[in-house]
Amino acid sequence: MPLSKRPTLTQFLIEQRRRYPTATGDFNALILDVALACKAIARSVSHGALGDMLGNHGDDQASINVQGETQKKLDVISNDIFIKSNEWGGHLAGMASEEMDGPYPIPKNYPQGKYLLVFDPLDGSSNIDVNVSIGTIFSVLRAPQSVIDAGREVVSEDFLQPGAQQVAAGYALYGPTTMLVLTVGTGVYGFTLDPNLGEFKLTHEKIQIPADTQEFAINASNSRFWEQPVKRYVDECLAGKTGPRAKDFNMRWIASMVAEAHRILMRGGVFLYPRDTKDPSKAGRLRLLYEANPIGMIMEQAGGRASTGREAMLTVQPTELHQRIGLVFGSKNEVERIERYHAEPSPAQDDANPLFSERSLFRD
Ligand code: AHG
Ligand code: MN
Ligand code: MN
Repeated sequence: MPLSKRPTLTQFLIEQRRRYPTATGDFNALILDVALACKAIARSVSHGALGDMLGNHGDDQASINVQGETQKKLDVISNDIFIKSNEWGGHLAGMASEEMDGPYPIPKNYPQGKYLLVFDPLDGSSNIDVNVSIGTIFSVLRAPQSVIDAGREVVSEDFLQPGAQQVAAGYALYGPTTMLVLTVGTGVYGFTLDPNLGEFKLTHEKIQIPADTQEFAINASNSRFWEQPVKRYVDECLAGKTGPRAKDFNMRWIASMVAEAHRILMRGGVFLYPRDTKDPSKAGRLRLLYEANPIGMIMEQAGGRASTGREAMLTVQPTELHQRIGLVFGSKNEVERIERYHAEPSPAQDDANPLFSERSLFRD
């Protein structure tokens, strides 16, 4: 397709909006502010060591975020960029982020809007210092009517909405190219940043994930903590052609969920960061509101599936802003198979399953 035939993100949003003559334009303006923030983050990321962008944010307790994780300089820079880019426009009532303990209400000197923005400013931060792909994940919710009517300040409870209520979700990927992948509930669209224009241009229309795959992604160093259905699934993949799946599988682990999600959108696959027994106080590694739900909406909009292993991710009622959850997503038939394994009564079967009793590579 010649360059001129590719609509910019702005053109795409305007054309989508024509279908809704009553739309005010607030939503489009919000997405464009988000896209601008992603471009600014991409620019910071691309400077790396040249811009003194690598390493930890500080040397003391001040650099530990509410998750108990060490903040990188770029985590903090990206969070600031997102806030500055999105607080002034009058589209938002509040924001919440991985890097902030509580919700961020819109300062009183700016008009308050009707949406909430939830984000992981930089996903895969362990990869920042080693020049591996990282990204930004975002989710747009409607502010509760009580916030809009009373103009009151947002509180954590306002954000505790099931993923099915997301108005839009997306991510930016800072890889060999910078991409913005977006769904507004009408399929998934991918935009590539044209470095000459500084504009996102539509390059991937109506992305669809193949229902079947021969590729899985999981951090196998946690295998001793996995629950039985996950062990069973991975064992069957590893058994390959000679096992019950009767086909060989390939494995990947980037440790940037956003990059794994993108690979899966492009060529299929399944990603698991399941609930495990590593730390009983944590129901999983990844966070429901700004990791699992937005990626879940994108997967479902692309014909894939996202799940806790036990139920559809988008139906989970959140209970906390920074809630962690087991996450499985990708090619539909694989995710459904993993859900089936969770639904089946399990421990007694182990002895009957030669893969587990004799040959398991992941036995406790
Ligand atoms: P974040 O950098 O936002 O804290 O998220 C990192 C997440 C996710 O991107 C990735 O899949 C996972 O952590 C990697 O975890 P392990 O180091 O346990 O593999
Ligand atoms: Mn993350
Ligand atoms: Mn992060």
